[in-house]
Amino acid sequence: MYSTFQLAKKYLRYYFTASNGKGHGTHSPFVFDFITHVLNDKKKYACYDTIEVVRQQLKQDATIIEVQDFGAGSAVIKPNKRVVKAIAKSSLKSPKFAQLLFRMVQYYQPKSILELGTSFGITTAYLASGNAASKVYTCEGAQQIAAIAQHNFNQVGIQNCTLLKGDFAQTLPALFSIVNQFDFAFVDGNHRKEPTLQYFNQLLAHSTGKAILIFDDIHWSSEMEAAWLAIQNHPSVTVTIDLFFIGIVCINSDIKLKQHFVVRY
Ligand SMILES: C[S@@+](CC[C@H](N)C(=O)[O-])C[C@H]1O[C@@H](n2cnc3c(N)ncnc32)[C@H](O)[C@@H]1O
Repeated sequence: MYSTFQLAKKYLRYYFTASNGKGHGTHSPFVFDFITHVLNDKKKYACYDTIEVVRQQLKQDATIIEVQDFGAGSAVIKPNKRVVKAIAKSSLKSPKFAQLLFRMVQYYQPKSILELGTSFGITTAYLASGNAASKVYTCEGAQQIAAIAQHNFNQVGIQNCTLLKGDFAQTLPALFSIVNQFDFAFVDGNHRKEPTLQYFNQLLAHSTGKAILIFDDIHWSSEMEAAWLAIQNHPSVTVTIDLFFIGIVCINSDIKLKQHFVVRY
């Protein structure tokens, strides 16, 4: 992974060169629509407070849990015994990005959503709250983390979510044999090049003709930047949007022009 200094430099370059969606630079109806109706939607939805209460509880929880390590996932914590609040502070998507994912689900109304890397289920809760008619499948390997996520889903009242416990290597093929097609996915598990590309290819094989795939931390390391570049160059990918902390991939054969956007958020 990059050092804090390298990341800060990259972020500054992103911030000052990214488009803000106004004026020139956004010649894609999909991206213009996304910026106008999703990215810039400043409304405060009811679920924001409900879910953030749970995040705050986790950030104060001093319980020590056993955590299996599945590879590059967290920038901060390494040992197998971890404190809940330390994970809650370092590994979860921030409210800003988790709420953006909520608005994406609300706006695009996908039928089947897949999340790789549940952790405590905070982002999952946002995904599931975006559209009660969507079915969310979320995968987590660390057993005690998964148990806390399930508890949180019950606390928030999430009913359209199935939590699959175990290594992605086992849970994904089993899931794909039951649910063949997904139209929305958030990949936030193993932040390495080869696994990321492997998940991308699996998702492509199991996506509808129109799908939105979101990859976490695309600038976190040179490996993740290489994975992001390979995804952008894939022939099935039409539009991509780089928001620095996440990368959004649009699969849509109706869109003929391949375009990549870097948008400030
Ligand atoms: C960064 S956290 C997910 C955060 C969550 N999406 C959020 O925003 O709240 C990544 C999670 O993926 C899990 N994970 C990573 N690789 C895995 C694998 N191969 N199989 C199962 N779980 C895995 C880790 O245990 C960890 O809890």
